[in-house]
Amino acid sequence: MTSDFDSLPQSTRRSQQIDFPVAVIILFDRALWWLSTLLSTVRLKLVLRWLGCEYGHGLAVDGKVVVRVRRRGSITIGNNVTIRSRFLSNLVGMTGSTVLHCIRDGRIRIGDNSGCSSTVFSSRNSIVVGKNVNIGGNVRIYDHDFHALDYLARRDPQQDFDHQKSPPITIGDDVFIGANSIILKGVTIGCRSVIGAGSVVTLKDIPPDSLVAGNPARIVRSIKPSNLQSEK
Ligand SMILES: CC(C)(COP(=O)(O)OP(=O)(O)OC[C@H]1O[C@@H](n2cnc3c(N)ncnc32)[C@H](O)[C@@H]1OP(=O)(O)O)[C@@H](O)C(=O)NCCC(=O)NCCS
Repeated sequence: MTSDFDSLPQSTRRSQQIDFPVAVIILFDRALWWLSTLLSTVRLKLVLRWLGCEYGHGLAVDGKVVVRVRRRGSITIGNNVTIRSRFLSNLVGMTGSTVLHCIRDGRIRIGDNSGCSSTVFSSRNSIVVGKNVNIGGNVRIYDHDFHALDYLARRDPQQDFDHQKSPPITIGDDVFIGANSIILKGVTIGCRSVIGAGSVVTLKDIPPDSLVAGNPARIVRSIKPSNLQSEK
């Protein structure tokens, strides 16, 4: 019995087999990925330790993570957290590094088993990410506006800084945030909710199990409870 593959011309068949040079390239890529993960993870752990921040076991980092912690800011990373921070670490079209930025008393907490790709966390107050949260490529999470609303305040750097609100952001367990979304100050996302790709989220209280999308993001519908067995 001949398969569809056998009936293809010889030249096409050759292109579907993994030949020696391709295997070498794949192995080389794997080795680079492994080395990058090792070095990036060690680097981030050293930086966090140096800054007096905490991280749990199983932290896996691929690419350079930018960390800025000023004064009394703090970062706490739970167990088994994955941080992707270079283009090839997640082929969703990542455009930059992951950034963990605490301004003054800013606080960033990332819960167990959560992961993010090229995500910017910028906190002046508090950004809390729950457990098992998937944060898609290029998501931005800001609990402040970077600038004041008052145009006169914006002319003076100190007044610009002082005239801003920074209510906290809370992201519940098992939330999934689609790529290129922006989560703005004061937002609370209920557990298991999904944020559509490219959403700009300003809704203050998103109930659990909601599908939210758009700019400005609105609740599209509720998500049915899972009928799968939980393994954790
Ligand atoms: C949110 C999402 C999961 C919803 O998928 P779904 O359940 O199949 O939903 P549907 O495609 O049926 O869309 C339901 C409604 O929401 C709207 N919608 C879905 N995603 C949207 C988005 N990102 N922005 C705006 N509206 C969106 C649809 O237009 C549709 O509206 P309608 O009912 O008025 O026609 C999906 O659209 C999405 O955005 N996935 C994220 C992918 C991603 O970024 N992955 C991470 C990569 S790192």
